[in-house]
Amino acid sequence: MKIIHLSDTHIGHKGLGERFGMIVDDLTRRHPLNPANHLVVHTGDLIHRASADNRNEARALLDRLRGFGYPVLLCPGNHDYGDSLSVGAQAARDFQAAFGDYLFQDGQEGFPSLYLRGDCAFIGLDSSAAELRGPSRLLAEGFLGVAQLSRLNALLDSDQLLGKKIVIFLHHHPFSFGYSVSPDVGDGRLFFNLFAGLTRPFRRLKDAHSFARLVRDRARVLLFGHMHHGLDCSGEAMKYGIPLALDGGSSTCAEAGEDRMRYRIIDLRIMTRETRFLPLPG
Ligand SMILES: [Fe+2]
Ligand SMILES: [Fe+2]
Repeated sequence: MKIIHLSDTHIGHKGLGERFGMIVDDLTRRHPLNPANHLVVHTGDLIHRASADNRNEARALLDRLRGFGYPVLLCPGNHDYGDSLSVGAQAARDFQAAFGDYLFQDGQEGFPSLYLRGDCAFIGLDSSAAELRGPSRLLAEGFLGVAQLSRLNALLDSDQLLGKKIVIFLHHHPFSFGYSVSPDVGDGRLFFNLFAGLTRPFRRLKDAHSFARLVRDRARVLLFGHMHHGLDCSGEAMKYGIPLALDGGSSTCAEAGEDRMRYRIIDLRIMTRETRFLPLPG
């Protein structure tokens, strides 16, 4: 089984829907893969802002992938439930209503979601679940919550996962202190970079430590997005006994300064990955 990892497509923002369309073309026409042993995992921020127009555009693109034959698994990101500054309960309900068949493969609504395929178990989380109300909505840095973590613990202990290779996917980066890519000193964004650098240790998945402790030595693969850096975080994950941890970056290059699109294909049998590149339009 191989995973096509997509993330942070931010449909609705500056032509990124068109770019996602190019990725869909690549996967279905130009360089199609065998749907019998490939599935798509999208780790959230599917859309840029919670609106019906964006959801409809995104839905059509995911439908094209699924129509080709790929199973498509999805977890929600903060932009799916609001935007970069806050998330909201109504937007979360709207997103789950619009994409329930992608979020909940087993037909049971609620997170963790579960999809079993061969010797693999794919578990999706909602990393905004516990910050949909009150002041923690602001900045939308992610909060899995005690209830979801408790359900995850029980699921990992359940008989149906016995002997399965566990793949957990969520939107927000899961390590306690995250990681940072040091910006160019001479990029003219001194105050932004200072703010980002100084506040980063506090702006992170609020229960990252609890999550990492819970999945320690139990998950084989962690997939996530949110930071748009696209880094391989396996070094950090190895501290928790997890061999492979990948940040999908923004498949459509939502971040300025990228010069090509890319997505990874992860081979779960031999635990390796390759990257496909696509030129930006224009
Ligand atoms: Fe994002
Ligand atoms: Fe995000």
